[in-house]
Amino acid sequence: MDRVSEEQKQADNRARATTDELRAFIQEDWAPRRPTVTERAPSAEYAAARRAVLSAAFPRQRLVVPAGGLKVRSNDTDYVFRPHTAFAYLTGLGADREPDAVLVLEPLDDGGHEAVLWFRPLADRDSDEFFADARYGEFWVGARPTIDDVELELGLTARHVDGLVDAVAKDAGEVTVRVVRDADLELTARLDAARVENGATEESLAESDDALAHFVSHARMCKDEFEVEQMREAVAATHAGFEAMIAAMPEAVEGGRGERWLEGTFGLSARHRGNGVGYDSICAAGDHANTLHWIKNTGDVHEGELVLIDAGVEVDSLYTADITRTLPVDGTFTDAQREVYDAVYAAQQAGIEAVKPGNRFSDVHAAAIRVIAEHLHAWGLLPEGVSVEDTLDKEHGQYHRRWMVHGTSHHLGLDVHDCALATREEYMDAELRPGMVLTVEPGLYFKADDLKAPERFRGIGVRIEDDVLVTEDGCENLSAAMPRSADEVEAWVARVQQR
Ligand code: GLY
Ligand code: MN
Ligand code: MN
Repeated sequence: MDRVSEEQKQADNRARATTDELRAFIQEDWAPRRPTVTERAPSAEYAAARRAVLSAAFPRQRLVVPAGGLKVRSNDTDYVFRPHTAFAYLTGLGADREPDAVLVLEPLDDGGHEAVLWFRPLADRDSDEFFADARYGEFWVGARPTIDDVELELGLTARHVDGLVDAVAKDAGEVTVRVVRDADLELTARLDAARVENGATEESLAESDDALAHFVSHARMCKDEFEVEQMREAVAATHAGFEAMIAAMPEAVEGGRGERWLEGTFGLSARHRGNGVGYDSICAAGDHANTLHWIKNTGDVHEGELVLIDAGVEVDSLYTADITRTLPVDGTFTDAQREVYDAVYAAQQAGIEAVKPGNRFSDVHAAAIRVIAEHLHAWGLLPEGVSVEDTLDKEHGQYHRRWMVHGTSHHLGLDVHDCALATREEYMDAELRPGMVLTVEPGLYFKADDLKAPERFRGIGVRIEDDVLVTEDGCENLSAAMPRSADEVEAWVARVQQR
């Protein structure tokens, strides 16, 4: 099957004649369309409440949140579309919806806003787009929603995207217009030009725009009830994906390139149960576990090794889990592997116990890294004369970072590293509040050629990562059903593999 791009039309090597007779023949005799949407989306009321928060923060200003467009992978082939996170959050649209759409919060005189979704509605069947447009046409990519469909599904006003730029820029000299700039660079450039043409000053654009992107990023920090439910589903799907990998471990060992076998096995689960993986899976056997973002996954998996797997399913609403388990390939930890594993487990326990309202986000790392430092000290790995307190000193110590260079936690949600535009005060230094979801993921990494590491530890890398919801009086480990301690993990492997 092929699809004809503009360049190819110019090259004329695959062009086909379309006569008026042929066009008419293709366009006629179709039964009436069935609606693609029959009810309001479950996310709609939550998205409306999120928009209300945004509306209250920016009275009498026009707020523009694009979904983004399709991105070419090679000539006439696009990447799978994923909407910008701010757009997904404020519309409730997930999966691959809706390329080129733009949410505009149109200011009203009373200080509130009308939500308008500008998008490319389904073309009629008497249009050329219907059969001849490979990027958007119904023959090629299926039926898209109509204006009525979107209004029913989302409970907001929908309009054809053709009118967008004029509507956004018409009074840009008088009304502050803010755009989420990185969602759709081409549209942003057009809106910039139109805003300046209509009276906005060039200098004002980026700064006022950044305030909008920052607000939406920070607003996502405490999850609503719908989001928490989505996170539970993402974790459940991830749990199933891990069990599929454990079941596939013997094949991974036998067939070669076992890391890829595990990655593919998880990907199958992720694609089947959700939208896909929330980030590239890390399937790292043996010494590869000591490369923190090992996503090449080209290695073999051998009995006697550990395999560190960091993977998460993104469900259709785009919320993702982010979970790591470090598994003994043959089902049993060696003494040295268990020694390292137990240290990381103790650090993670301390981190999880620090997740409670009133504590700061940074307290979780502080609790976990203290346990890591204590173990490194007890093993005699810190420099001569350096105590646990010395290494924990932020200005002069930090020797432990040779073996755990990353932080312990990040916020999690629509993005795997969620709320990324929040400031240090809003993130690292902020108090934990009910509804926040964060990871707790300490690790220890002893490279095979690390001459400061005891020989028995060389080539062992361990991380344990869970997804934790802050509650009124503490936290709930959303991934608690996935075995974690060394004994539980051994029993898990045995049970799944029916050994
Ligand atoms: N999977 C990336 C992370 O754990 O942050
Ligand atoms: Mn992870
Ligand atoms: Mn993580």
